[in-house]
Amino acid sequence: MHRRKFPEGFLWGTGTTAYQIEGAWNEDGKGESIWDRFVHSPYRILNGDTGDVACDHYHRMPEDVALMKELGIPNYSFTMGWSRILPKGRGAVNEKGLDFYDRLVDHLLAAGITPMATLYHWDIPQALQDQGGWHNCDCTDWFVDYARVMFDKLGDRVPRWSTFNEPWVIAFQGYANADLAPGLADFSQAYQAAHHVLLAHGKAVQLFRQNGYKGELGIILDHQNFVPASESEADRAACQRLYEEAFGMFMEPLHRGEYPKMLFDWIGTHKPKIQDGDMEIIKQPIDFLGVDYYMTYAVSYSHIGKLLKATTKQISAPGWGVTEYEWGINPPGLTAVLMDIKENYGNPKMYVTENGCATKDFPDSHGFVADWGRVDYLRAHIRAVHDAIQAGADVNGYFVWTLLDNFEWNLGYKTRFGIVRVDFKTQKRIPKQSAHWYKEIITHNAIEE
Ligand code: GCO
Repeated sequence: MHRRKFPEGFLWGTGTTAYQIEGAWNEDGKGESIWDRFVHSPYRILNGDTGDVACDHYHRMPEDVALMKELGIPNYSFTMGWSRILPKGRGAVNEKGLDFYDRLVDHLLAAGITPMATLYHWDIPQALQDQGGWHNCDCTDWFVDYARVMFDKLGDRVPRWSTFNEPWVIAFQGYANADLAPGLADFSQAYQAAHHVLLAHGKAVQLFRQNGYKGELGIILDHQNFVPASESEADRAACQRLYEEAFGMFMEPLHRGEYPKMLFDWIGTHKPKIQDGDMEIIKQPIDFLGVDYYMTYAVSYSHIGKLLKATTKQISAPGWGVTEYEWGINPPGLTAVLMDIKENYGNPKMYVTENGCATKDFPDSHGFVADWGRVDYLRAHIRAVHDAIQAGADVNGYFVWTLLDNFEWNLGYKTRFGIVRVDFKTQKRIPKQSAHWYKEIITHNAIEE
């Protein structure tokens, strides 16, 4: 079989996040996070689902690591729950919480799996949210205190760190669209939160450099592919605004130390307050950029398009449909976003840190799921990564989203994104067809033509 080879040393992996899999939401001294508060409030989550138990990974971590080993997964990206470490967000460290991640890293290394750790995936401690959360500038320093605890504890064994996962989601889904925790609806707060998340990132990078921790430190941005619905000036401008809010708002400051001008003229009084020196701190050089990609949007101007006067429609690539989540499948869009970063932001070292899909699962009598739809999806997206590498993009790794079926935020347990099926009644894990297929890709460091 003809195969397309990936560069030597390319990182293959899979990822998870703390809130989506751990469960044990109030055990061993863990504090309440905004996600605990959100899911326990009425009517926030489909079917009233919660992550209280989720995949019970907190108690099953050794088995999950053993399973990854069996599946031949060489790299594992996970996130840490701030409220497990610092139950009130600051102050005394909860040693039992810290110990969990310490053991996780040791188990991974013993299994020959390289850890990649992300400090923050949407779950700030509720005690800090009560003081304004990311809207409050003090959070940037509290985040650095938390980062220091983690770097000190795990820095000798974790070679790759990210500060934040998807700041756009943190700020806009959390503070403006109210879809996700903390569930607020205020664009001014969202833009301010975005600025503070970036500032917290920059301060954590400074700390990492000053204290001489080894390894790479980066940040993960979600980068969807936005294309104007037509050549009209109105559609192109709407598309630009959306791109600037979703990606430029983060990438421009990180790369150039400036916010996107067109967007900032447009949003007027929603602009965040920026203190002297903030932009310099944000612009600290990073070692890599994590890129999460799921979809491609056609963007048109719309007079009822909220703040940005833009409306979107997901577009599937020719021959592709939608996933179980109703997300249009568009593999070339992944090549496009990687090339955008190459062309417009100096071709940084990149890892595709999330990409994957929800499919409808039909387990057979043994619980096995022949998820060939997911295999098709992954194959096409991995080829799309290969296309970008061939065209010169500095892409160094690909992480399938996700290892286990898990708690999918406001959709609860409706969608299944895992390459391993989880029976939530028994907590039994059964690798799907895609997990076996992925093992082959990893073994050959190549994708079939
Ligand atoms: C993300 C999220 C994941 C989601 C995935 C599918 O970073 O977007 O990290 O937590 O589960 O994107 O929606």
